[in-house]
Amino acid sequence: MKKDSIKKGEQIAPPSGKLGILIPGIGGAVSTTFVAGVELIRRGLAEPIGSLTQLGAIRLGKRYEHRAPKIKEFVPLAGLEDIVFGGWDIYEANGFEAALYARVLKREHLDPIKDFLGGISPMKAVFDRRFVKNLDGTHVKSSAGLAERLEELKADIAEFKARNGIDRLVMIWCGSTEVHQKPQEIHQSAAALREAVNRNDQRIAPSMLYALAALESGIPFINGAPNLTIDIPAMLELAGNNGVPVAGKDFKTGQTLMKTILAPGLKSRLLGLEGWYSTNILGNRDGLVLDDKDSFKTKEESKLSVLEYILQPHLYPSLYKNYYHKVAINYYPPRGDNKEGWDCIDIFGWLGYPMQIKVDFQCRDSILAAPLILDLVLFMDLAQRSGMSGIQEWLSFYFKSPMVQENLYPEHDLFIQSMKLKNTLRYLMGEEQITHFGLDYYMNTCEPCEEPKK
Ligand SMILES: NC(=O)c1ccc[n+]([C@@H]2O[C@H](COP(=O)([O-])OP(=O)(O)OC[C@H]3O[C@@H](n4cnc5c(N)ncnc54)[C@H](O)[C@@H]3O)[C@@H](O)[C@H]2O)c1
Repeated sequence: MKKDSIKKGEQIAPPSGKLGILIPGIGGAVSTTFVAGVELIRRGLAEPIGSLTQLGAIRLGKRYEHRAPKIKEFVPLAGLEDIVFGGWDIYEANGFEAALYARVLKREHLDPIKDFLGGISPMKAVFDRRFVKNLDGTHVKSSAGLAERLEELKADIAEFKARNGIDRLVMIWCGSTEVHQKPQEIHQSAAALREAVNRNDQRIAPSMLYALAALESGIPFINGAPNLTIDIPAMLELAGNNGVPVAGKDFKTGQTLMKTILAPGLKSRLLGLEGWYSTNILGNRDGLVLDDKDSFKTKEESKLSVLEYILQPHLYPSLYKNYYHKVAINYYPPRGDNKEGWDCIDIFGWLGYPMQIKVDFQCRDSILAAPLILDLVLFMDLAQRSGMSGIQEWLSFYFKSPMVQENLYPEHDLFIQSMKLKNTLRYLMGEEQITHFGLDYYMNTCEPCEEPKK
């Protein structure tokens, strides 16, 4: 992405017309909670709690200026009324049936929008059981070749767009976590990947075909799961060539959200860490998928990396060199989507004296994920209209394993991520960056610290 290709302020194309949200995995717990939630909010039946784009404000200028507009009034975002939903799933259930199955939202929230949810029927999915071993849906495309499947996905997209009179699209993967994959030679360039598709290479995961369909159609792609999918040079090359933004991966919701809130605090006070034991019990379909060791490995890698990057043991060996970090997920059906995440944290302070912190987060996975999806699709649409392409690192705030350029390490600290996001919005709208410089108001050369007294 070149600096002068970025449009700012009034140069950014306005969000006129309809915005289509395409979701692989539209019948899942997260997707149905997101779609139902947006419709309830549109009808004035609920509040968009947890969504930065809908409820967040952004400070502008000096503190004494008292300027803090709502983000949705500051940057040109699509309105909720302009959103149209579509997607694919390996199960045929419509949006209402799928939401009932997910057991996240109560009937009092689903019944008033039964007509709307019932009208959302998933398109037939591209699926391969080798990549998600614990599911076996039948609502899948029957074509044998990968190239044919890719063309079918692109035709689905074009048909969805035309049928609904849509102007712009964003695709977000909310499908199951696929088995662990390391980048291989077929992932190293756009040409190698395309060639692998054409010769039906069995190492190409379904999520990659959806991503290819999006990128080849000029549609921004977001990865909500920890799958490799777009985090490979081939996809980044394609995104760059086609001027398309991408973001991922793995929504940062329950336990990892807590971890990236707590760990930066401990580190900023230079408290040492001896061990961090994290375990989860989870009983939804995601939990069932993660009960397979190969899908769990994908998730585990995503969950484990955050502490290493936040604590930087190479800079603070006496505090963080040898801590023990363990993450487990146990499938426990009675809990459904209401995950319980326990953290036992062994820290040490002055003169090495030990202390313990216990966190027991009784959360709701999809309730935490839904507002992230809303923000991500709206911000990615903004990125596209602003001429931003490739990795959107400013959206790291939303991910457990933020994608970054090859020579960089990911930024996991939630507070740095939040500053990064807001400063990017300020940059786009031609406002001054806020650095929280400690002497800003106190040096002789600076402006007066307060408004003049009347
Ligand atoms: N809920 C959270 O807090 C959270 C956080 C981070 C990541 N995630 C990830 O988000 C994804 C969705 O989570 P969920 O709880 O909704 O899971 P879910 O199992 O309820 O939903 C996933 C859906 O994807 C469908 N699917 C699987 N493979 C598909 C394919 N190839 N094409 C189309 N559809 C396909 C499944 O049938 C299912 O309906 C998972 O990968 C999960 O790991 C969720």
